[in-house]
Amino acid sequence: MNRLKIAVVGVGHLGKEHARILSHLPDVELVAVVDSNYDQAALIAERCHCTPYDSYEPLLGNVDAVSIVTPTVHHHEVARSFLESGVPVLVEKPITVTLAQADDLIRIAQAKNVPLQVGHIERFNPAFEALLGRPIVPKLIESERHGPFTGRSTDIGVTLDLMIHDLDLILSLVKSEVRDIEALGSSVFGGHEDIAHARLVFENGCVANVTASRVSPRPKRKLRVWASEGYAGIDFVTKRLTLVQPSDELRKYGLSALQLDPARREKLKAEVFGKHMQSIDLDCNRTSNGDQLTNELKHFVQCVRTGKRPRVTGEDGRAALALADRIIQALQRHTWTGTPEGPKGPKQLPPATGKLFDPNLERDYLDNREAA
Ligand SMILES: NC(=O)c1ccc[n+]([C@@H]2O[C@H](COP(=O)([O-])OP(=O)(O)OC[C@H]3O[C@@H](n4cnc5c(N)ncnc54)[C@H](O)[C@@H]3O)[C@@H](O)[C@H]2O)c1
Repeated sequence: MNRLKIAVVGVGHLGKEHARILSHLPDVELVAVVDSNYDQAALIAERCHCTPYDSYEPLLGNVDAVSIVTPTVHHHEVARSFLESGVPVLVEKPITVTLAQADDLIRIAQAKNVPLQVGHIERFNPAFEALLGRPIVPKLIESERHGPFTGRSTDIGVTLDLMIHDLDLILSLVKSEVRDIEALGSSVFGGHEDIAHARLVFENGCVANVTASRVSPRPKRKLRVWASEGYAGIDFVTKRLTLVQPSDELRKYGLSALQLDPARREKLKAEVFGKHMQSIDLDCNRTSNGDQLTNELKHFVQCVRTGKRPRVTGEDGRAALALADRIIQALQRHTWTGTPEGPKGPKQLPPATGKLFDPNLERDYLDNREAA
């Protein structure tokens, strides 16, 4: 089989991982890495045994596919150049800065009939994959994505940086339009919002509460779904999926605690999980075949070879961006004191009224175990 000639454009924090993985795939030849910082390109090229460049132009028409991992502001220009020359593109999330740019990329990919995949990597998380295909129609979703401050991606806020992962996942689960959005967010370090929360109400009645922070001491990435069919909880960090469903008996006959005498109510308390509500906790690391970035890249290679539609299309990337844009507009409108003339939006959180604690005075209570 001919090896597919691939280049990676932008080999910083994440792009160097794309290059490393691609350089090890047997049916791929990583021919080049590009970085506007030539020293960085040279460093990664040496590690991955390929040619470094400080601009992508010499590669146009000379590669079979490209992975674009530059800061988001450059996605449109770089992806457009490769798509125009008929080269399939994997572009990191968010697809672009503006919806017009996303539309442009989708149009060119269609006209040239080449795959355009967007790097919404959690779709390849084995715990999410293990949920797909199960009959669940979400009625309430809660997602939490907390990460430490990295100093990267400061060209965008946390909505486009982290929350967009969950927006894409939620849109892939809830096949309905978002009707109403309430959102609030706060800028901690003076730029875009670093913490954001949104409540999304879908046309089909589903509600999603979505929270993201990039100033948390510990990472946390969870998604919980409640539905008539039961409950699904995903931990993206540990890659575990918890499923709970009513027993066949409970489905068939129901059970009203109101009609039970105290003794039978006590019995029910002890039997709820196990007898009436069946639950399993799946360790999806066991069944997964590699990490999700490797699987995302392998999937892209397969789509390039076969012309198959990518799991995360340009249209999906656009839909997540459109929803993120609506959330950003909603959090700009949020009034912190409930009055329209009061402070508004992520940069105008009212000043603190006092300190929550004095570390010197609370020493005696200090517990070094993890705080909640
Ligand atoms: N899918 C995920 O989970 C995930 C995680 C992190 C970052 N990302 C996305 O990946 C992209 C890169 O993020 P990062 O954290 O690696 O950033 P980074 O700043 O660490 O790396 C970006 C690299 O691109 C280079 N660069 C800048 N402009 C360029 C250009 N025009 N041509 C070539 N190289 C250029 C920079 O020199 C730098 O080395 C962003 O779009 C980000 O949103 C996705």
